[in-house]
Amino acid sequence: MRVITYGTFDLFHEGHRRLLERARALGDHLVVGVTTQQYDDGRGKLNVRQPLMDRVRSVEATGLVDEVILEEYEGQKISDIQRLGIDIFAIGSDWAGKFDYLNDYCRVVYLDRTKGISSTQLRDESAGLSIGVVGSGRIARRFVQEARFVSGVDVESVYSRTLANARRFADELELASVHDSYEDLLAAVDAVYIASPHGHHYEQARTAIEAGRHVLCEKPIALTTAEAEDLFARAKAADVVLLEALKTAFLPGFQRMVGVARSGSIGDIRAVEATFTKLVHGGRELAGPEGGSISELASYPLLAIVKLLGTEPDRLATRTIDNGSVDVFARIDLDYPHAIASATTGLGVKSEGDLVVAGTNGYVYVSAPWWLTEYFEARYEDPSRNRKFYYKLEGDGLRYEVAEFASMIRDGSRESFRLRPEESIAIAGMIERARTGSTSFA
Ligand code: CTP
Repeated sequence: MRVITYGTFDLFHEGHRRLLERARALGDHLVVGVTTQQYDDGRGKLNVRQPLMDRVRSVEATGLVDEVILEEYEGQKISDIQRLGIDIFAIGSDWAGKFDYLNDYCRVVYLDRTKGISSTQLRDESAGLSIGVVGSGRIARRFVQEARFVSGVDVESVYSRTLANARRFADELELASVHDSYEDLLAAVDAVYIASPHGHHYEQARTAIEAGRHVLCEKPIALTTAEAEDLFARAKAADVVLLEALKTAFLPGFQRMVGVARSGSIGDIRAVEATFTKLVHGGRELAGPEGGSISELASYPLLAIVKLLGTEPDRLATRTIDNGSVDVFARIDLDYPHAIASATTGLGVKSEGDLVVAGTNGYVYVSAPWWLTEYFEARYEDPSRNRKFYYKLEGDGLRYEVAEFASMIRDGSRESFRLRPEESIAIAGMIERARTGSTSFA
């Protein structure tokens, strides 16, 4: 009898070992499917601690397993069972009923789950990371809600310049503590998430770094190259994580889109056009001195441009429409050695929020809202070659950046390849030039 079972097998524990023992005893050949990180990301399981190969090794080290395969996509089980000639599918009782559909292909057995242990529990027990929130606006609220989906992260305290706002925020989201001084908040947490108005990012990030705290800072992390460079240099010297909360950078679909576009499948990239507009009719975003469509929104299209064409354009030129105090519509044109790009932003002006990457063999099209990349296409002259890509996004996308921030802190890594310091610095520099009308990068 050939038996198969599946799991993530993160932080391999006694419950996993007992499950494998009993699965093995059901037959004489045991196949174990271990989930890949991409598959787990895609189904919103973002808290997995160990890399795939470590999890595979733990499963193999039990000596109970004849064959390990990878589980890479939804619906794979049916083809595995048929391909590998499986007689019995076994899984823990937490899944009771969920896999009855496999009865059409083999026998399905639910094995009692071992009580009192799970990967989730082990993750929660090991080093909880406390993140304090700075600011009490809409994005801060969404951050708190999304962070609850990432295990090992506690968001229990808030600081806001207006104490009454912080109190209201804490009441609404049931946070344990409210701080009326930034220093008190810093003393109480391991890390901060800065979601205050743009003009405060630099000072608050710097103070947190000086206090030895890790920093996740809303975009734009700074409004000038000098400030961004200074913050990353300080974070490096202090050995803390500094990450810009530019959520699109951490989405599996966006990373895959960049990979497809840069893999040569559409040829050499010659142009990138990205648009982000938002309808607002008043408030801080539309007033000076740090408001305007460029400072509010350009981080997203510039991220796509930097990821696709690099951090060093030769030239930048901006045309804007303003409302007397800030820009409400802007087109930032960038020249690269063999490509051109444009980032279009609008506040109180609505346009199609799509992204087009033109190449010498074809193009990538990401429909609106491209910054929450769930779907894109690679398109060619010959439409029969077109390919479609789907990536389900869990929540509103913020949990992916929280998961990245937490895992960098835990693993001791100080740079994320998903959003490198040079990339955040380059984006800050482009925003600075776009806002001041400076064109050259000399
Ligand atoms: N399992 C079990 N007893 C436990 C924990 C897990 O029998 N105490 C089984 C699951 O039912 C599944 C297999 O082990 O068949 C792999 O489960 P996995 O999801 O990797 O482990 P969990 O500890 O449940 O992980 P998580 O907490 O992340 O869901």
